[in-house]
Parts: sequence; structure tokens; C-alpha cells
Amino acid sequence: MIPNSINLADNLKFLQGIPDESVSLIYIDPPFNTGTKQQMTSLKTVRDDAGDRTGFGGNRYRTEKGVSKSYLDSFDDYIGFLAPRIEEVLRVLTTDGSLFLHVDQRESHYCKILLDRIFGRDSFMNEIIWSYDYGGRSKRKWPAKHDTIFWYTADPKNYTFNADTIDRIPYMAPSLVGKEKAARGKIPTDVWWQTIVPTNGKERTGYPTQKPLAILERIVKVHSNPGDLVLDFFAGSGTTGVAAAKNDRRFVLVDANPEAVQVAAKRLTEYTPDCIGFTLEPQRV
Ligand SMILES: C[S@@+](CC[C@H](N)C(=O)[O-])C[C@H]1O[C@@H](n2cnc3c(N)ncnc32)[C@H](O)[C@@H]1O
Repeated sequence: MIPNSINLADNLKFLQGIPDESVSLIYIDPPFNTGTKQQMTSLKTVRDDAGDRTGFGGNRYRTEKGVSKSYLDSFDDYIGFLAPRIEEVLRVLTTDGSLFLHVDQRESHYCKILLDRIFGRDSFMNEIIWSYDYGGRSKRKWPAKHDTIFWYTADPKNYTFNADTIDRIPYMAPSLVGKEKAARGKIPTDVWWQTIVPTNGKERTGYPTQKPLAILERIVKVHSNPGDLVLDFFAGSGTTGVAAAKNDRRFVLVDANPEAVQVAAKRLTEYTPDCIGFTLEPQRV
């Protein structure tokens, strides 16, 4: 395992090669078992006198389809797929280490039972709800607009929680708490309001299901220390690596999809130009 590396590999095989008690923080965002192919086609606007839209400075523009990025998100036995990986997580975490598992409402309840079984119920710390507000709204049931992030510790009596580094949020009724408190803001609860990665913002890589950097930076700052090793073995576009690199942590990223590895490598060279080990292993995907 090379610190600050992006690894193209099946993660179970990769995990089996990681030494015991060597990783301080693990965040994973596995495919959610939606039963579909997760796909995103990037769009770019190009100047074209024959274009169909008028934009800045009165110039004409047209929209072009870019490269499509995708991965398959369908499992017959989702928990059977995750279980051996979570067993490896417990083995490789340092004695004060933490796991964050990011899922949605389709599988979260089964995942909680799996985590309780492997880590023990005492090691359950929080069920964080990431609440967002984007996309269509069903008129036949309550629109589902949240994901679940489970936090488990290797040892519930000895773990990293840097409360001073928590980014504070505005009070809902600042006039009720006094000027000083209102200016400082309050500590967020286990419900995190955060917009999705804006579809046309600078942060967007075009990789499907990319998670917001703000969520990962909060996790990395609060649950690890500078110099610590942070692992994401369902790395996708490399959001965890960016959060680690921006905050002086070392990272190891793993993904079985060559497109993900490419996107993450491109993204991370901006933060760690000299130290990306880029391991390519022959494999079936
Ligand atoms: C939901 S995405 C992760 C998105 C990521 N959090 C981000 O911000 O871009 C899940 C990723 O897991 C990868 N994956 C699925 N099965 C895998 C396996 N067995 N080994 C390694 N990666 C795998 C997929 O290729 C996909 O990129």
C-alpha cells in the first residue's frame, strides 16, 4: 500500500494486502444497489456562430455532449458483497480508527445490522443523515432526499473527534441567542444539510454519484489528524483523496473502474503533484 496512491483494483483483494491496524480513517460510498447502470454524460458549451443560444457578450453558443462515464450498480446479494470487505475494515483500522459507510434508504437498514454484527453494537457512534434538495418531487410518496452515513469506531472509548475543527452553521433564529453566539454559529447535529455537487460548478468531475467535497472535508478534519492515513476503497472520482490532501492527511484510493481512477488522478494532481503512486493491476471488471 503506497501512501498518496490511486489504485485500479478489486477492493477485496487490495484490502487483504493492507497490514493490520494501519489506517486511521476509512470512508466508503459503495454502489447503492439501485439495479441500474450509473451513468453521467458531461455537457459543454462551445462558441459557435451557428449555435442555438445567445450568451455572454451577445456571442452564439451550442451545447456539446462530452464523454459518458459509468459503472454498474446491481448486486444479487449486496450484504454478501459488503460483509468480507467490512471484516477487512475492522482488521486494518488503527485502535483509535473510524469507519464511515455511506448508503441510501434501499440498503441502510441491512447495513446497520451487518455493521453491528462485525463491529459490535457498542461501536456504533452516529447515523448521519445527509439531507439535500435537488431533483424531481414525487406526488405519490414523500420525495426521498437523504442518504445515510454510519459512523463506527474500532474502540468506542478511544477515537478521534476534533470538535474544534467542526465547521459551524448559522442559527435558525439568531436573534434568540445573542450577538456573540449568532456570529460564531452552532455545531451541526447528525442531520447535515448540504447541496449536491452543483451540476455545472467547478467541483463537478462528470463522474456519476460524485459526493460533495464539503461532506468529506468535515469527516476528514473531525475524525483524523494531520499525517494520518485515510482510505477510500470505493473511491469513484476521488473526493475522499481531495479532502485528505487539502487537509494534510495521506490517502489511499481504490476503484475497480479505470474511468474512476483516471478522473481521480486528474483531480488529485492539482493537490499532490509529486506523490501519486498510480498502480495498475490486471483484473476483471
Ligand atoms: C458511488 S461510487 C463512489 C463515488 C465517490 N464517493 C465520489 O465521490 O466520486 C462507487 C464506486 O465503487 C466502485 N466499485 C464497485 N465495486 C468495486 C470493487 N469491487 N472494487 C473497487 N471499486 C468498486 C465503482 O467503480 C464506483 O466508482
